[in-house]
Amino acid sequence: MRIDRWRGCVVAVAALLIGSALPAMAQDAATIAAQGNGKGAAPCQTCHAPDGSGQASGGFPRLAGQNAAYLQSQLDAFAAGTRENAVMQPQSAALTEAERQALARYFSAMPAVATPGAAGTAPYADPEHLGQMLATRGRWSKQVPACEQCHGPGGVGVGAGFPPLAGQSANYLAAQLKAFRSGTRHNDPMGLMRHIAQALDDRDIDAVAHWFAAQPFPPKESRP
Ligand code: HEC
Ligand code: HEC
Repeated sequence: MRIDRWRGCVVAVAALLIGSALPAMAQDAATIAAQGNGKGAAPCQTCHAPDGSGQASGGFPRLAGQNAAYLQSQLDAFAAGTRENAVMQPQSAALTEAERQALARYFSAMPAVATPGAAGTAPYADPEHLGQMLATRGRWSKQVPACEQCHGPGGVGVGAGFPPLAGQSANYLAAQLKAFRSGTRHNDPMGLMRHIAQALDDRDIDAVAHWFAAQPFPPKESRP
């Protein structure tokens, strides 16, 4: 009888602790996203937008609907310096490990959307379909596999390892390809993206970035 009561008490306390910890965590991420953490991390939504869709002109990526483990790995990479960026490195370094995890989950849970105006304001001319060719077939003479082989059909993304490219702004995609090429972003497993980006010239990068930026995200089939 006594033991039963004691057990019941432990269960009640545990339930209370869990019950209060979960909303607190979600609250923390939402507060940081809107107001910063008061310790050097700025409000994320100033750049990444309140709905997490990013901003094309600034090259601020969409975070909404991206895989949580991927987002966290990127925040960790900024903090560790394996992904160099003057804007995001100090942001990430000012967050605790727990805050990075909470923010990754918070943005991941937002409905997936494309960055408004992802493909740019003027129509992009690609008469030779260079972007589509690289995306869907690659360039084997230079050992470039089709981007879709890893990033999924239309660049929808595959799991935690291969981020979506569809509907991400052309500005941002091109900046990342250049960062891989120059090595300022060197957090990619086995140098997969560095090898590929080194085989691309500026025209390739521009064309393939615009092609993926114009692909629907979320993909049409997955819409209700
Ligand atoms: C002043 C603008 C600015 C603020 C504020 C900002 N970011 Fe960023 N964020 C950027 C830029 C620019 C990049 C792209 C960096 C690069 O080119 O590598 C980026 C990239 C990222 C990425 C990588 C996304 C991907 O697809 O790889 C994540 C994750 C991220 N930010 C999360 C956050 C979080 C969380 C906060 C709030 C604590 C935040 N950012 C605040 C500008 C900002
Ligand atoms: C062999 C697999 C593979 C192929 C093929 C591949 N990628 Fe990637 N790509 C990756 C991986 C893995 C990452 C994530 C690296 C990380 O963890 O930061 C990535 C990341 C990226 C990013 C950064 C996205 C973001 O949100 O920051 C861009 C842009 C990109 N790839 C473009 C391309 C393009 C364009 C092609 C084709 C020319 C291509 N990739 C082909 C594996 C691949």
